Amino acid sequence: MTFQQIFNHPPETQASASGRVNLLGEHTDYNDGFVLPTAIPQQTTVQLGFSNDGQHQFYSENLQERVNILDIHHSPSGFASYIFGCIEVLKQSGYTIPSLNVYVQSSVPIGSGLSSSAALEVATIRAIRQLLNLPINDVEIAQIAQQAEIHYAGVQCGIMDQMACSLADTQHILFLDTRTLERRLLPLPEQTSIVVIDSGVPRTLASSGYNQRRAECQEAAKLLVVNALRDITDEKVTETLPEPLNRRARHVVTENNRVLEVLQGVEPEHFGELMNASHASLRDDYEVSVPALDTLVEILQKTPGIFGARLTGAGFGGACVALVALGKEKAATQALEQYCHAGYQGKILVPS
Ligand code: GLA
Repeated sequence: MTFQQIFNHPPETQASASGRVNLLGEHTDYNDGFVLPTAIPQQTTVQLGFSNDGQHQFYSENLQERVNILDIHHSPSGFASYIFGCIEVLKQSGYTIPSLNVYVQSSVPIGSGLSSSAALEVATIRAIRQLLNLPINDVEIAQIAQQAEIHYAGVQCGIMDQMACSLADTQHILFLDTRTLERRLLPLPEQTSIVVIDSGVPRTLASSGYNQRRAECQEAAKLLVVNALRDITDEKVTETLPEPLNRRARHVVTENNRVLEVLQGVEPEHFGELMNASHASLRDDYEVSVPALDTLVEILQKTPGIFGARLTGAGFGGACVALVALGKEKAATQALEQYCHAGYQGKILVPS
């Protein structure tokens, strides 16, 4: 069904935003640290028009679901919560937002850790900016989107996903300092391609586990008397903390240092080693991996032609990212076959 068929009038405007895959720098953003995401080719598109019956109406083409917002004091759930959240945060920022008809279509895989929610938020705010000519820049779009996610979707997320969906492209890596929002576009590792494979295991416990990790990091920073774990650069300092805060903090410190190493310029082989080390740290110190992700990553790491692999996104299920030598993309297919033989149902998401 099209916008026209759903709402009986054509859209006034539309905007899109890409999903993202994070190459390195996981669970560092809410510790004021460093991240290295890149955009994926899959996008979410939001079409907008004015609603003349005084209610917001949202339609998801993927879910074939229509939501009418009858009571603006009651936040909806599911895909509608992200759109509603963006509208509410824009209003709280002082903008007058009329009742809208919103149509969403997305090719960003949902629930795989590729930021389908941030892509929806950024596309929604971009479309509203266009429709109403709002004086909002791309960084502000990311900040509004993050507030929508925190307050209306209930995930105490950092700013990486929304910044990546708003500012990254598929040709570069976006280096972002999440404290200062200073950023730089870096070239992708030479002669490589990025492959993303879904483990087939949904991200259960993602939001509760995520919020718990965030609280643990805050506690660790408090005990070390710093504003955020970003302020610790020597992993030895974390040894004074009680279990498991010592390991949580060690992950953040070593992960930030891995990102900073990439910033100095590294060969693809070393980039791959850093990705492998990141996975080990997420598995052992941060404890956000699951057996399926460990199995997939282990197979990928052992496959010739693959420089490195790790879980990507929040963890607890979802996808892995691998850095593959250009021309050796078949290696990822072979690894996937092996993974499926082990009884799992994986799928290559990028390249699509
Ligand atoms: C989710 C959050 C991000 C970030 C990652 C983990 O994607 O939305 O802010 O914390 O997890 O790196």
